[in-house]
Amino acid sequence: MHNVLLTGATGYIGRRLEKVLREREDLRLRLLVRNTRKLTEKTRQHAEIIEGDSFSPETLRQALFEVDTAVYLIHSMGAERDFSQLDRESAEKFYNACLEQGVKRIVYLGGLGLRESASPHLASRLETGDILSSRPDRIRTIWLRAGVIIGSGSTSFEIIRHLVEKLPVMTTPKWVNTMTQPIGIEDVVAYLSAAISLDPPDNVVVDIGVAPISFQEMLQQTAEVMRLRRWIVPVPVLTPRLSSYWLTLMTPVPYRIGAALVEGLKSETLVQNDHAQRFFPQIQPQPFRETVQQALNELEQDLVISRWCDSSGGAVCDISDAASPADSVYRDVRIAPLQGIPAEHVFAAITSLGGKTGWFSHSLLWRTRGLIDKAVGGYGLNRGRRMHGELRIGDALDFWKVVDLVPGKRLLLVAQMRVPGKAWLEFDLQNDTLVQTAHFIPHGLYGRLYWYALIPFHYFIFPGLIKKILAKAGEMEQEARHTQSREV
Ligand SMILES: NC(=O)c1ccc[n+]([C@@H]2O[C@H](COP(=O)([O-])OP(=O)(O)OC[C@H]3O[C@@H](n4cnc5c(N)ncnc54)[C@H](OP(=O)(O)O)[C@@H]3O)[C@@H](O)[C@H]2O)c1
Repeated sequence: MHNVLLTGATGYIGRRLEKVLREREDLRLRLLVRNTRKLTEKTRQHAEIIEGDSFSPETLRQALFEVDTAVYLIHSMGAERDFSQLDRESAEKFYNACLEQGVKRIVYLGGLGLRESASPHLASRLETGDILSSRPDRIRTIWLRAGVIIGSGSTSFEIIRHLVEKLPVMTTPKWVNTMTQPIGIEDVVAYLSAAISLDPPDNVVVDIGVAPISFQEMLQQTAEVMRLRRWIVPVPVLTPRLSSYWLTLMTPVPYRIGAALVEGLKSETLVQNDHAQRFFPQIQPQPFRETVQQALNELEQDLVISRWCDSSGGAVCDISDAASPADSVYRDVRIAPLQGIPAEHVFAAITSLGGKTGWFSHSLLWRTRGLIDKAVGGYGLNRGRRMHGELRIGDALDFWKVVDLVPGKRLLLVAQMRVPGKAWLEFDLQNDTLVQTAHFIPHGLYGRLYWYALIPFHYFIFPGLIKKILAKAGEMEQEARHTQSREV
């Protein structure tokens, strides 16, 4: 059995790699994490966990004991202190411990780019790579290097997505013409997983990425995938500092990280060798547009559909990989205690919604919404429901469709009405409370304006809805009691 230690398993890339490695039967997986509570239950069941950090020799000794391959994904960019010093110390301690424990192979993922023009962030990633490759006679190091990674929750992709969604006209600095070779997150994980089994005769640096593209083309193609028309106007006077402020304002990325990324975008990040094709011919990375589409699908999945771990029999049950970028999704959340009404009656009231029963409160507002939907070519409210008293996944319910139904627990409806974005209505019973959430992922600027314009309507509709559901559930309980007493 091949013993593998994965570090950085709570990070963006590590979390995804761990999911793939746990399925491999040829490996015995151990994780080194700073905080076990950051791991999902599933991860804890499938891997041996060592808690501690890379600065502690004792932790490293324990973590690296009898390990064949160590995957190094530790990165201090989020830290308050000087990240390059922390990364240097961490890599040195880790490498020395690997030598001491007789580790045979190290797999490391760093950044793409030339030494001469490296930003402080890239220079630090290069230094880490150099430290981890310093004794090829003792340890073989497979050093993968990637540029912009496209995936939901990846910082660079979130910047691109937020800029494209919010700005119909973008004034961009000179650096948007810098060329790079992006790569989809799934392909990065595939390379890392394959690298664990690679047995090269010497250290090897493997640059990964698809066809070269400029940052401007990435913005443009992302807009096309999102079906948004965008105009990009380059303005040479925008300095990196101004660009970083701009990114902080328009995207969920903190200033420090935005500034480091902008600094990096000033220089080209292009593949310098053909080792990806030579050592991993079985991996054919997906083109840029496809990775964007995949990231967008995943975002929707993560932010709404798999939000609750206990839904759908746990099939989609894992902590979201997306860093939940602040305003990717708008929500109207209403929470009400059940006040002693049994959950079964509350759920029965929820699943009786729509069709002839209607939407309990503010019927005029609901009907008006239905008429507007009809007028713009949608289903309106006339569609009703398949049958009164029973709902199944896939059922139509007026202008909604049932996408998840866990009896006694959760009902998730997706809107089929015409809206500039994607909308869901969710009812979730959590212990003694009912949580009603309207989710909305806006499409472009218009989607955002639409959400804000509807806030006054939401102010009436949603509190009324949750209140009436509980009132209806109370009536149902009373009826059930009467029926019972009559039978006795
Ligand atoms: N993400 C990208 O777009 C991208 C692009 C190109 C290359 N890369 C490279 O890929 C690698 C991983 O990046 P990432 O984006 O996954 O990083 P990340 O999300 O910032 O994760 C860093 C991980 O390192 C852990 N960590 C930090 N200091 C530690 C310490 N002293 N001891 C033990 N664990 C420690 C963190 O644990 P906590 O959870 O406890 O903080 C976290 O799990 C980096 O080398 C990066 O340069 C990333």
